[in-house]
Amino acid sequence: MVHVHPRPSDCRLAKKLFIRTYGCQMNVYDSARMADVLAPLGYAPTATPQGADMVILNTCHIREKASEKVYSELGRLRRLKDERTATGGDMVLAVAGCVAQAEGEEIRRRAPYVDIVFGPQAYHRLPEMVARATRASAAARHAGPGVLDTSFPVESKFDYLPGASGRQGVSAFLSVQEGCDKFCTFCVVPYTRGAEFSRPVPQIATEARDLIALGAREITLLGQNVNAYHGADEQGREVGLGGLIRHLAALPGLQRIRYTTSHPRDMDDGLVAAHREVAELMPYVHLPVQSGSDRILAAMNRKHDVDDYRHAVDRLRRARPDLALSSDFIVGFPGETAADFAATLDLIRAVGYAQAYSFKYSPRPGTPAAALPNQVPEATKGERLAALQALLAEQQQGYNDAALGRSFAVLFERPGRHAGQLVGRSPYNQAVHVTAPQDLLCKLALVRITHSKSHSLEGALVKQPAFAGAAT
Ligand code: 5AD
Ligand code: SF4
Repeated sequence: MVHVHPRPSDCRLAKKLFIRTYGCQMNVYDSARMADVLAPLGYAPTATPQGADMVILNTCHIREKASEKVYSELGRLRRLKDERTATGGDMVLAVAGCVAQAEGEEIRRRAPYVDIVFGPQAYHRLPEMVARATRASAAARHAGPGVLDTSFPVESKFDYLPGASGRQGVSAFLSVQEGCDKFCTFCVVPYTRGAEFSRPVPQIATEARDLIALGAREITLLGQNVNAYHGADEQGREVGLGGLIRHLAALPGLQRIRYTTSHPRDMDDGLVAAHREVAELMPYVHLPVQSGSDRILAAMNRKHDVDDYRHAVDRLRRARPDLALSSDFIVGFPGETAADFAATLDLIRAVGYAQAYSFKYSPRPGTPAAALPNQVPEATKGERLAALQALLAEQQQGYNDAALGRSFAVLFERPGRHAGQLVGRSPYNQAVHVTAPQDLLCKLALVRITHSKSHSLEGALVKQPAFAGAAT
């Protein structure tokens, strides 16, 4: 869960906007864009829902319990809203994101005090929705049905969004692709985010230039299936993700590029070559595999088998031998046997991960896998997840230990918890804590790693005259 932080200049603006973000980086990006869209209406981000004029819950539907969490949070917010209305004030309450998309009508039924419900493809129309919602008095809205927009409009929201004004930060997200046509049998994304769509290159380049002007030195390109990217360039020619990365790497001031999330099927030669040739492209790839069993991969409709995945990893590592890999795993998919699970552990041992995410399979209503026989008992899922996470934790610790004594460029993103400390990221996406002068904030510096932990590193600045800030 991530909050949109207030900016120093916000205090002069009249209305307070609180956004609570659940789920993925795409949602974090969407929340920032919602704040951008609402800024011209006088809304400025605030850090708590208390006293806010508008509260948006930007929700996630990917795994279970997400929607129940939303309803209990709504219950708490209702009390705040009632308090404000009782004292003559008002609070517009909105539910956004994938739960809104999947359960819009249900939200209106269970929480009629919610003013606005809108899906991920509709937030460029927020100003209009806010205007409609606030036209009615607070009391009338309390009883009324509110505004619902969960359409998949033919026009792209990206054509209607303002520039990157609200999104300062040295490490920025930029959405380049959205939706998915893969239809893995466990996944809600094709239903909540809709069909695969790529933004055109010039539009992305303009947003990247804006972000750089606001201080970004690293940009992470986002998409549910980001390496399926196929946008048109200025000449109308189709460009893959590798081509887009080359284009952006040429922008002055941009020092690091990352992308997430990839699909093994779409790891094409252009992207692999970019890993070999583009210095700004960081040597870290999040490449979900989900399972190490061909039988389960087929039942998941993943469109790749274990060999295809290992081949994609080999090609990447040949192009960039120091590449760090991350992945997603699901344990307890319907029909998963002890042998299928053992095959997943074997794959993890064979590949070696710098870090990874792992989940118990959670049946999502409306997805094909939810209706499959042989659902795995909860206890078995729990045991398998614990074993898988123990192996991944061991690999992550080993990966971090291997950095000891090595030096690499760290991009400092924020002050650390201790005075005089800065926190940045290694090229391999590890958090690195360093005692460093504050003027290195938002800059690259060469750091020698002195301590390794399970989830982060510590290091010391390497004295080096005029470090030019090479990518790695
Ligand atoms: N159950 C468990 N994990 C899931 N994921 C997606 N859908 C489900 C589900 N129904 C995981 C996948 C995906 C990540 C974003 O979330 O591993 O890659
Ligand atoms: Fe979901 Fe990813 Fe599969 Fe698309 S490729 S259906 S987003 S898991």
